[in-house]
Amino acid sequence: MNYYGSISNGYDELHGKEQLKKIKSILNNFDISRKKLLDVGCGTAFYSYLFRDYTGIDNCKEMLKKSKANVFLGSAEKLPYADNSFEVVLSLSAVHNFKNYEKAIDEMMRVASEMVVVSLLKKSKKFDRIKEYFNPDEEIDTEIDLIMVKNIT
Ligand SMILES: C[S@@+](CC[C@H](N)C(=O)[O-])C[C@H]1O[C@@H](n2cnc3c(N)ncnc32)[C@H](O)[C@@H]1O
Repeated sequence: MNYYGSISNGYDELHGKEQLKKIKSILNNFDISRKKLLDVGCGTAFYSYLFRDYTGIDNCKEMLKKSKANVFLGSAEKLPYADNSFEVVLSLSAVHNFKNYEKAIDEMMRVASEMVVVSLLKKSKKFDRIKEYFNPDEEIDTEIDLIMVKNIT
């Protein structure tokens, strides 16, 4: 069992409030709640009720077991979806955990038709490298994360 498997029971209680704040910042700035959306590294996806057409993917089955949302087991580095199959791809505080963030970002860009929104933990050791690779069109600086947006053209 990996780290997230071991904390899956208490995850929502431990991180729920903080994560909800981040999602609300995203929704206040970008009109994405009614879009066809994929959430990469969705965890328990406790915030899925804020979206009309939500799909989540995560590689930790214990986190997914805690979820009541439309979620699937899979890897961010190899998304099992066709090109442009979601309007919006979201990833909340997860990209710094991915084994290969470059592959994962490439995959997110591939399956999105309109926009990719990645919320990146500012204290991550990989912050600068991930930001440079993602190369955001827009960003919102929040207390804990930098929210980065790429518009797909
Ligand atoms: C900090 S949690 C964030 C969960 C959720 N997005 C939230 O905000 O509550 C990071 C998540 O990324 C997932 N994860 C880590 N590496 C992954 C990978 N390679 N592919 C898919 N999910 C991954 C973990 O299992 C964990 O659920």
